[in-house]
Amino acid sequence: MLLLSVMPVAHLNGTDLHYVDAGLAHARDAVLLLHAFPLHSGMWAAQVAALKARHRVVAPDFRGLGQTPPSGEPSTMELLASDVRALLGHLRIERAAVAGLSMGGYVALELFRQQPGLFRGIALCDTRAGADGDEGRRNREAFARNAIERGLPWVADDMTPKLLREGASAAEVKLVRDLIRAGTPAGVAAAQRGMAARPDSTATLPGIRCPSLVVHGELDRLIGLDEAQKLAAAVPGARLVVIPGAGHLPNIENPEAFNRALLELVDGLPA
Ligand code: MLT
Repeated sequence: MLLLSVMPVAHLNGTDLHYVDAGLAHARDAVLLLHAFPLHSGMWAAQVAALKARHRVVAPDFRGLGQTPPSGEPSTMELLASDVRALLGHLRIERAAVAGLSMGGYVALELFRQQPGLFRGIALCDTRAGADGDEGRRNREAFARNAIERGLPWVADDMTPKLLREGASAAEVKLVRDLIRAGTPAGVAAAQRGMAARPDSTATLPGIRCPSLVVHGELDRLIGLDEAQKLAAAVPGARLVVIPGAGHLPNIENPEAFNRALLELVDGLPA
């Protein structure tokens, strides 16, 4: 799987945003894929491959992760969502089915608050609506400092076992480590500080009226299945799909089952 390739870049919102833009080039509807922490758009390679014959697929690298440079301020969900809106404006995309995994889900919920009319459908994957408590915020600050002092090898050592199920293959471990190591320590720290500041999105959920899907890896060690069940109960009409044999990254660990669920949502959306 190719992790680092030449990607388009757009100077907008005060950053150089790198992104994937694949599939039907001029479609004004798109599938927007929002990645997890501390990875980048390359984590969606299997989904881009599955979607691009019938859809336009757009996937940005968030600030300081992948090829988008860090900007020195916390990557708040508000900032990342406004980057995404600027990118969609730049690409003249008016409506999108939005899939966000974990941190990407936090950004998707913020994006929904900022521009609900954008959403044709939503897939919330291995994510949650709640904000951090005090201990969670302290842990994120300690992680941010460690990332800056010890660098990306430390980040990869710490995060990879949490992101993948126990017994993940050597290829999956290498892929996730490579995805992490494409970022920057400053970007990792900024993302942790941004997530620490994220608001509670629980009150947003009942207002989501587009077709919706909640996806969760059955062996996720970072976010419990109870969080997915709460999301599915609170978003009107949401369908919950549990992906067997997958941890926090079911799109990588069981792409067949993940893609089946995502394509069913996306292909079933009204024109
Ligand atoms: C992620 O996978 O995006 C993160 O684990 C989310 C988080 O740290 O809350």
